[in-house]
Amino acid sequence: MRAPITICLSSVRLSAVTLLALNVFTVPGARAQTSVAQTPPMGWNSWNHFACNVTAADVRHAAEQIASNGMKAGGYVYVNVDDCWQAGRDAQGRIVPNENFGDMKALADFVHSKGLKFGIYSSPGPKTCAGFTGSYQHEEQDAQTYAEWGVDYLKYDWCSASEVHPVSQIKEVYRKMDDALQRTGRPIVFSLCEYGWDLVWRWGASVGGNLWRTTGDIEDKYSSMARIGFGQAGLEAFAGPGHWNDPDMLEIGNGGMSHDEYLTHMTLWCLLAAPLLAGNDLTRVTPRDLAILLNKEAIAVDQDPKGVQGHRVSAEGPLEVWAKPLAEGSVAVGLFSRAREFPVKVSFKDLGFTGPVQVRDLWAHRDLGQFEGEFTAQVPAHGAVMLKVWK
Ligand code: GLA
Repeated sequence: MRAPITICLSSVRLSAVTLLALNVFTVPGARAQTSVAQTPPMGWNSWNHFACNVTAADVRHAAEQIASNGMKAGGYVYVNVDDCWQAGRDAQGRIVPNENFGDMKALADFVHSKGLKFGIYSSPGPKTCAGFTGSYQHEEQDAQTYAEWGVDYLKYDWCSASEVHPVSQIKEVYRKMDDALQRTGRPIVFSLCEYGWDLVWRWGASVGGNLWRTTGDIEDKYSSMARIGFGQAGLEAFAGPGHWNDPDMLEIGNGGMSHDEYLTHMTLWCLLAAPLLAGNDLTRVTPRDLAILLNKEAIAVDQDPKGVQGHRVSAEGPLEVWAKPLAEGSVAVGLFSRAREFPVKVSFKDLGFTGPVQVRDLWAHRDLGQFEGEFTAQVPAHGAVMLKVWK
């Protein structure tokens, strides 16, 4: 039996990577619901494609597709309605869905009947970002209503909350809804959306957040996706089982990026242990785009039970190498070119390996063989090569 290891931080200098590998980062005061989001949430959200045109029928169609196109089997389980579903409140103050949605409980029941989970959206302000009714002064009542409908996931978007709360109270505002959700007794993933304000990654878990947006909204173009994705460097210490950084939802399949750019999107999000919420119209997805979302080897990197968010190993101008340690002792690696096609190199010592290692290509689904010292791949313009390296 091995003797317990005592780490004396005052006398031993351990690198952040070592601390991450040892999983010794904890979040002070964390009280996130422990039963949910032990790996980054996966599913679909209506916003990136449908925005305010979304209807209950679109959500049902998405659920049907997920249940039958391989996504459910791949781990995509949350079917989340974003903004624009609310009509207002009734005489008792209860939130009422608008005519595009009708009976929200019936929609939740339908999603559940497919073996999937149902998510909804609100704001701590009087109005949501698109001007629909928010939860201000109805937090308790809304949480109860969501639980009665069978909601499994709430995205809570700051929006107009600045009109009624100073931003200095942002933690209390989020904690209030978390308390209300906890009192329902229903396990509900709590997704904070306040665009990364006030270094949310430092305190998001302490107010009950299971994930928190770290940036403003993603757009379906390479410049936006790359700025957000590569901009996550340095936040890896704050993610772990039950509490994740959220660089926003996927744009794969929405048509604004090239195939290589969407491969970069998926590779990077999986290395970041980011939530994987598809944001496209699943009734029209091309086989090529669906194959990106369904890559089991990429998903396994994202969902690895160790729950370590990947970090940037090196950046030489537009050429970047990222790595994510996995539970089984292997390391997932991304080689990226943010410019034209270039060879990109990773040194195995930067991954913590000496001597010969095995390398597998996770997009080609091919073992590449044994290598020593370093590995170089030709990376297409705006593209990515995703590897697994092990001893
Ligand atoms: C904000 C959020 C988006 C989306 C819209 C809806 O912009 O960041 O993800 O929810 O509101 O109005």
